[in-house]
Amino acid sequence: MQKIRVDKLISGMGFGSRKDISHWIKSGRITINGEKALSASQKIDIDLDQVKLDGERIVYQKYTYIMMNKPTGVVCSTDSKDTNVIDILEGRYKYINLFPAGRLDKDTEGFVLLTNDGKMAHNILSPKKHVKKKYYVEIDGTLKDEEKSKIENEIVLEDGDQCLPCFIEILENNEHSCKLFITIEEGKYHQIKRMFKAVSREVVYLKRISIGEIILDDNLEKGEYRELNPEELRVLPISND
Ligand code: URA
Repeated sequence: MQKIRVDKLISGMGFGSRKDISHWIKSGRITINGEKALSASQKIDIDLDQVKLDGERIVYQKYTYIMMNKPTGVVCSTDSKDTNVIDILEGRYKYINLFPAGRLDKDTEGFVLLTNDGKMAHNILSPKKHVKKKYYVEIDGTLKDEEKSKIENEIVLEDGDQCLPCFIEILENNEHSCKLFITIEEGKYHQIKRMFKAVSREVVYLKRISIGEIILDDNLEKGEYRELNPEELRVLPISND
């Protein structure tokens, strides 16, 4: 049994400031198990008590996990002048300290996982944890067999940094372009663009389509997002080590 103050629960879930909640309690907008809350400091059991704001249940979640289909033009860094992935969230999600577990470039589309769970984010990002990230890539020109094999086998980038082995699946390859999937287990700065650059190819389109076992939901239009479903939460690399 975990007991916390009712104002802490509601503000922690991003629904308002402690001051807002004090007002809402005074005006009877907050109920606990069907009875009007008495004070902001009233303690509730997060597993048993039902807290509602204007009749809407507020469920305590220690952490939040959001799948976003990032459009191009939006950045992952929050210290930039450009619109960032937190700016395009709505409502309470803006106020619960979410950050991207792995960044995508401004001109890259696709799956960004937003969370406030630092440990899980570390597990996704650490090359030692071998969490696979799969991307759809289009490059200019043909990708020759020897170039593919060079990229897959610990290619060295222009600054001397060596990549871990990766896996490429060619979808289409002709003299004008090559379309492929690439799966990597790390996330160096501009990694995929630099891997192809190392064999003199330019990435002209890049989209992340999965992180670990979680695949970007086809129903999410560019800029849309949703919380992970229970099935996806089950395969998230959450560990206590
Ligand atoms: N590799 C890149 O080059 N850019 C991204 O956004 C992600 C991986």
